[in-house]
Amino acid sequence: MPQPTRQFESRAGAVCIFESPGQACEAAADRIAAVLLSAARASRKAVLGLATGSTPIAVYKRLVEQHRHGALSFSHVHTYNLDEFYPISPTDPNSYRAYMQRHLFDHVGIPPNQTHVLDGTVPERAVAEHCQQFERWMEADGGLDLQLLGIGRNGHIGFNEPCDLPLEEALCLRTRLVSLHPVTTADAAKDFGGSQERVPRHALTLGVAPILAARSILILALGRNKTEAVARALEGNPNAELPASLLQTVAAKVRWYLDEEAAAALR
Ligand code: F6R
Repeated sequence: MPQPTRQFESRAGAVCIFESPGQACEAAADRIAAVLLSAARASRKAVLGLATGSTPIAVYKRLVEQHRHGALSFSHVHTYNLDEFYPISPTDPNSYRAYMQRHLFDHVGIPPNQTHVLDGTVPERAVAEHCQQFERWMEADGGLDLQLLGIGRNGHIGFNEPCDLPLEEALCLRTRLVSLHPVTTADAAKDFGGSQERVPRHALTLGVAPILAARSILILALGRNKTEAVARALEGNPNAELPASLLQTVAAKVRWYLDEEAAAALR
């Protein structure tokens, strides 16, 4: 298990800084594996909240390797993804359902009915019910043992984008249909043939409230694109303009895994 070069408590949770992105991802995978193994030993299910994007790809790669070596079973694992573009078909290679199949689900023998990704094909009139249903399924599974998060360049978590809601209201945001922030669609353009125009304007996202309700939260941020958002989330006041700063309200259960570049502006 890679060791951090520096670690300390911040107002937004424990911070571990690793020498390289690879080491931060390995440590994140090992932390997820520990949750799976401890649930297996106690003969209970493990319930994971999962993220997509470029950051966790190496995390999933390591989990797949551990599974292939026989060290990690996924038969008792139930997963809930943070978000999905809207509208999008699950068979579209850019959908987050397709991403999860490609990077994790297809390689670890997880029973398909134990993987949950918000459905980008539900008709708009049924979206609110679908989002409520998704949260009910999570609760019926006993809630999340661990929520894995990335952070947007604009500080978003899931697709809870920066907004001007008062803190108390932001903390109550539920799973819902949202409009994507221009920074988010600009960053997603590389996956849509380099064209921001082709990125869906909307997405379904787990709300701030169900994210913060997870029993533990691991947020992974890598590279210099994330330096500013990380510093603001860890050192600024909690506010909806920088959604990751809302993690300060549940700091005791949050761990930040950073590489040197993402941590570069921390005091
Ligand atoms: C993805 C998600 C997003 C990403 C964030 C960082 O499921 O919820 O919040 O974690 O946009 O994306 P990358 O890792 O591509 O920089």
